[in-house]
Amino acid sequence: MLHDEHTEIQAIQTAHRLRLIDAWDIQPGEKILEIGSSQGDMLAALAYAVGPTGHVTGVDIASPDYGSPYTIGQAIKTLTDSDYGDRLTVFFERDLTKGSDFLAGEHFTTNRAHQHTRECRE
Ligand SMILES: C[S@@+](CC[C@H](N)C(=O)[O-])C[C@H]1O[C@@H](n2cnc3c(N)ncnc32)[C@H](O)[C@@H]1O
Repeated sequence: MLHDEHTEIQAIQTAHRLRLIDAWDIQPGEKILEIGSSQGDMLAALAYAVGPTGHVTGVDIASPDYGSPYTIGQAIKTLTDSDYGDRLTVFFERDLTKGSDFLAGEHFTTNRAHQHTRECRE
């Protein structure tokens, strides 16, 4: 039962993320930075959208040990071990309000913002 509920919530949230990507008109080949990438659900949707010629960089302030029953480190490893792995780079324990030297030389093509609110649970 719990599994079914989680699967349904995940499907609703994934559909919401894909609608956002459509609205943002993300194109194959884009290079995207996601701030607050957490367990990587949006990273996965973005990696799908940018295709094999694009790239998505995720940054999160949290440690890879954060989260339960699966940590965000485990979730991201599942993604980086997948077919999308070479489209993804993820930095943990980085606070972009404290500087972005670790991204020096990187160039991103998209400037959009999102926050999950009520509509992604409906
Ligand atoms: C709701 S989750 C993001 C979910 C993800 N964007 C998605 O849609 O799949 C918010 C994340 O933002 C991270 N976060 C909060 N403040 C941050 C900061 N200053 N720099 C980087 N990450 C931050 C948190 O650790 C948390 O993992």
